Amino acid sequence: MLQVRGAAPEDAGEITRIYNQGIEDRLATFQTEPRPVAEVAAVLRQRANRYPAVVVEDGGRVVAWAWASPYRERPWYQGIAEYSVYVERGERGRGAGRAAVAELIGRCEAAGFHKLVARVFPENEASRALCRSMGFREVGVYRRHARLDGRWRDCLIVERLIGAAAGG
Ligand SMILES: CC(C)(COP(=O)(O)OP(=O)(O)OC[C@H]1O[C@@H](n2cnc3c(N)ncnc32)[C@H](O)[C@@H]1OP(=O)(O)O)[C@@H](O)C(=O)NCCC(=O)NCCS
Repeated sequence: MLQVRGAAPEDAGEITRIYNQGIEDRLATFQTEPRPVAEVAAVLRQRANRYPAVVVEDGGRVVAWAWASPYRERPWYQGIAEYSVYVERGERGRGAGRAAVAELIGRCEAAGFHKLVARVFPENEASRALCRSMGFREVGVYRRHARLDGRWRDCLIVERLIGAAAGG
Protein backbone atom coordinates (compact mmCIF):
# COMPACT_ATOMS: atom_id res chain seq x y z
CA MET A 1 0.00 0.00 0.00
CA LEU A 2 1.26 3.47 -0.87
CA GLN A 3 1.97 5.80 2.02
CA VAL A 4 3.02 9.43 1.75
CA ARG A 5 5.05 11.34 4.32
CA GLY A 6 7.17 14.46 4.53
CA ALA A 7 10.68 14.11 3.10
CA ALA A 8 13.74 14.58 5.30
CA PRO A 9 17.39 15.20 4.33
CA GLU A 10 17.96 11.50 5.17
CA ASP A 11 15.79 10.62 2.13
CA ALA A 12 18.27 12.34 -0.20
CA GLY A 13 19.81 9.04 -1.35
CA GLU A 14 16.48 7.53 -2.47
CA ILE A 15 15.23 10.82 -3.92
CA THR A 16 18.44 11.20 -5.93
CA ARG A 17 18.26 7.62 -7.23
CA ILE A 18 14.74 8.20 -8.58
CA TYR A 19 15.57 11.73 -9.81
CA ASN A 20 18.54 10.42 -11.80
CA GLN A 21 16.35 7.82 -13.53
CA GLY A 22 14.11 10.66 -14.72
CA ILE A 23 17.16 12.63 -15.89
CA GLU A 24 18.43 9.58 -17.78
CA ASP A 25 15.02 9.05 -19.41
CA ARG A 26 15.14 12.59 -20.88
CA LEU A 27 11.41 12.99 -20.16
CA ALA A 28 11.26 15.61 -17.51
CA THR A 29 14.13 18.10 -17.32
CA PHE A 30 16.85 19.88 -19.27
CA GLN A 31 19.33 18.51 -16.73
CA THR A 32 21.51 15.84 -18.39
CA GLU A 33 24.07 15.02 -15.70
CA PRO A 34 23.09 12.90 -12.70
CA ARG A 35 22.64 15.00 -9.58
CA PRO A 36 24.89 14.17 -6.63
CA VAL A 37 23.22 13.03 -3.40
CA ALA A 38 24.95 15.81 -1.45
CA GLU A 39 23.38 18.45 -3.70
CA VAL A 40 19.88 17.02 -3.21
CA ALA A 41 20.45 16.77 0.56
CA ALA A 42 21.51 20.43 0.61
CA VAL A 43 18.39 21.46 -1.32
CA LEU A 44 16.18 19.57 1.17
CA ARG A 45 17.91 21.23 4.11
CA GLN A 46 17.84 24.75 2.64
CA ARG A 47 14.15 24.61 1.71
CA ALA A 48 12.90 22.72 4.76
CA ASN A 49 11.38 25.74 6.50
CA ARG A 50 9.44 27.04 3.53
CA TYR A 51 8.96 24.55 0.67
CA PRO A 52 7.22 21.21 1.28
CA ALA A 53 8.74 17.95 0.02
CA VAL A 54 7.18 14.49 0.22
CA VAL A 55 8.10 10.88 -0.48
CA VAL A 56 5.81 7.97 -1.31
CA GLU A 57 6.64 4.61 0.21
CA ASP A 58 5.45 1.17 -0.78
CA GLY A 59 6.09 -1.32 1.99
CA GLY A 60 8.65 1.04 3.53
CA ARG A 61 10.56 1.53 0.25
CA VAL A 62 10.63 5.00 -1.34
CA VAL A 63 9.09 4.79 -4.84
CA ALA A 64 8.36 8.44 -5.61
CA TRP A 65 8.90 11.96 -4.42
CA ALA A 66 7.63 15.48 -5.07
CA TRP A 67 8.84 18.85 -3.90
CA ALA A 68 8.00 22.50 -4.20
CA SER A 69 10.70 25.00 -5.10
CA PRO A 70 11.03 28.79 -5.44
CA TYR A 71 9.38 30.37 -8.46
CA ARG A 72 10.79 33.95 -8.46
CA GLU A 73 12.53 36.01 -5.81
CA ARG A 74 10.37 39.16 -6.10
CA PRO A 75 8.21 39.60 -2.97
CA TRP A 76 4.84 39.57 -4.78
CA TYR A 77 5.59 36.09 -6.17
CA GLN A 78 6.29 34.48 -2.81
CA GLY A 79 2.92 32.71 -2.81
CA ILE A 80 3.84 30.79 -5.97
CA ALA A 81 5.91 27.60 -5.98
CA GLU A 82 7.09 25.36 -8.79
CA TYR A 83 6.72 21.67 -8.27
CA SER A 84 8.52 18.54 -9.46
CA VAL A 85 7.48 14.90 -9.17
CA TYR A 86 9.42 11.78 -10.02
CA VAL A 87 8.38 8.14 -9.76
CA GLU A 88 10.74 5.17 -9.84
CA ARG A 89 10.85 3.69 -13.33
CA GLY A 90 9.30 0.34 -12.50
CA GLU A 91 6.57 1.92 -10.36
CA ARG A 92 5.09 4.42 -12.80
CA GLY A 93 1.40 4.24 -13.66
CA ARG A 94 0.39 2.83 -10.25
CA GLY A 95 -0.82 6.00 -8.58
CA ALA A 96 2.41 7.02 -6.81
CA GLY A 97 2.71 10.28 -8.77
CA ARG A 98 -0.87 11.15 -7.98
CA ALA A 99 -0.40 10.36 -4.28
CA ALA A 100 2.75 12.51 -4.12
CA VAL A 101 1.19 15.52 -5.84
CA ALA A 102 -2.05 15.32 -3.81
CA GLU A 103 -0.06 15.40 -0.57
CA LEU A 104 2.21 18.15 -1.86
CA ILE A 105 -0.76 20.33 -2.78
CA GLY A 106 -2.22 19.91 0.72
CA ARG A 107 1.07 20.82 2.36
CA CYS A 108 1.55 23.84 0.07
CA GLU A 109 -1.95 25.07 0.94
CA ALA A 110 -1.18 24.65 4.65
CA ALA A 111 2.06 26.60 4.13
CA GLY A 112 0.09 29.50 2.62
CA PHE A 113 0.99 29.20 -1.07
CA HIS A 114 -1.70 30.34 -3.50
CA LYS A 115 -0.47 28.76 -6.74
CA LEU A 116 1.59 25.85 -8.02
CA VAL A 117 3.15 25.94 -11.47
CA ALA A 118 5.27 23.49 -13.46
CA ARG A 119 7.04 23.22 -16.78
CA VAL A 120 6.36 20.03 -18.70
CA PHE A 121 7.71 18.75 -22.00
CA PRO A 122 4.63 18.58 -24.27
CA GLU A 123 5.64 15.03 -25.26
CA ASN A 124 5.49 13.87 -21.62
CA GLU A 125 2.03 12.29 -21.81
CA ALA A 126 2.22 10.77 -18.32
CA SER A 127 3.05 14.11 -16.75
CA ARG A 128 0.33 15.92 -18.70
CA ALA A 129 -2.20 13.26 -17.68
CA LEU A 130 -1.16 13.60 -14.04
CA CYS A 131 -1.44 17.39 -14.19
CA ARG A 132 -4.90 17.21 -15.79
CA SER A 133 -6.02 14.67 -13.26
CA MET A 134 -4.84 16.91 -10.39
CA GLY A 135 -6.69 19.98 -11.69
CA PHE A 136 -3.82 21.84 -13.35
CA ARG A 137 -4.63 24.09 -16.30
CA GLU A 138 -2.42 24.12 -19.37
CA VAL A 139 -1.50 27.79 -19.73
CA GLY A 140 0.52 27.67 -22.92
CA VAL A 141 3.69 26.54 -24.61
CA TYR A 142 7.06 28.25 -24.60
CA ARG A 143 8.59 27.40 -27.97
CA ARG A 144 12.25 26.40 -28.17
CA HIS A 145 12.69 27.14 -24.47
CA ALA A 146 16.12 25.49 -24.23
CA ARG A 147 18.16 22.72 -25.82
CA LEU A 148 18.25 19.17 -24.52
CA ASP A 149 21.10 17.10 -25.93
CA GLY A 150 21.54 19.81 -28.57
CA ARG A 151 17.90 19.74 -29.71
CA TRP A 152 15.39 22.56 -29.12
CA ARG A 153 12.56 21.56 -26.83
CA ASP A 154 9.27 23.29 -26.11
CA CYS A 155 7.93 23.70 -22.57
CA LEU A 156 4.30 23.57 -21.54
CA ILE A 157 3.40 25.73 -18.53
CA VAL A 158 0.72 24.46 -16.16
CA GLU A 159 -0.82 26.13 -13.12
CA ARG A 160 -3.22 25.34 -10.33
CA LEU A 161 -4.69 27.84 -7.87
CA ILE A 162 -4.67 26.44 -4.37
CA GLY A 163 -5.72 27.50 -0.88
CA ALA A 164 -7.47 30.86 -0.60
CA ALA A 165 -6.87 31.71 -4.28
CA ALA A 166 -8.79 28.62 -5.39
CA GLY A 167 -11.98 29.90 -3.79
CA GLY A 168 -12.60 32.55 -6.47
C1 LIG B 1 4.94 11.73 -14.74
C2 LIG B 1 4.91 10.80 -13.51
C3 LIG B 1 5.35 11.59 -12.29
C4 LIG B 1 3.45 10.34 -13.31
O1 LIG B 1 3.38 9.57 -12.13
P1 LIG B 1 2.71 8.10 -12.16
O2 LIG B 1 2.80 7.50 -10.83
O3 LIG B 1 3.33 7.36 -13.30
O4 LIG B 1 1.20 8.47 -12.54
P2 LIG B 1 -0.12 7.93 -11.80
O5 LIG B 1 -0.13 6.43 -11.84
O6 LIG B 1 -0.26 8.59 -10.48
O7 LIG B 1 -1.24 8.44 -12.80
C5 LIG B 1 -1.75 9.75 -12.78
C6 LIG B 1 -2.68 9.94 -13.97
O8 LIG B 1 -1.90 9.94 -15.17
C7 LIG B 1 -2.32 8.89 -16.05
N1 LIG B 1 -1.10 8.32 -16.65
C8 LIG B 1 -0.05 7.79 -15.99
N2 LIG B 1 0.87 7.38 -16.87
C9 LIG B 1 0.39 7.66 -18.10
C10 LIG B 1 0.92 7.50 -19.42
N3 LIG B 1 2.11 6.93 -19.65
N4 LIG B 1 0.18 7.95 -20.47
C11 LIG B 1 -1.05 8.53 -20.27
N5 LIG B 1 -1.59 8.71 -19.02
C12 LIG B 1 -0.87 8.28 -17.97
C13 LIG B 1 -3.03 7.90 -15.16
O9 LIG B 1 -3.99 7.15 -15.89
C14 LIG B 1 -3.68 8.81 -14.14
O10 LIG B 1 -4.83 9.41 -14.68
P3 LIG B 1 -6.22 9.42 -13.84
O11 LIG B 1 -5.88 10.06 -12.50
O12 LIG B 1 -7.12 10.27 -14.69
O13 LIG B 1 -6.62 8.00 -13.71
C15 LIG B 1 5.82 9.56 -13.70
O14 LIG B 1 5.42 8.85 -14.84
C16 LIG B 1 7.31 9.88 -13.78
O15 LIG B 1 8.00 9.92 -12.80
N6 LIG B 1 7.82 10.14 -15.03
C17 LIG B 1 9.22 10.50 -15.20
C18 LIG B 1 9.56 11.84 -14.53
C19 LIG B 1 8.60 12.93 -14.99
O16 LIG B 1 8.23 13.01 -16.14
N7 LIG B 1 8.22 13.80 -14.02
C20 LIG B 1 7.35 14.92 -14.30
C21 LIG B 1 8.19 16.10 -14.68
S1 LIG B 1 7.22 17.45 -15.27
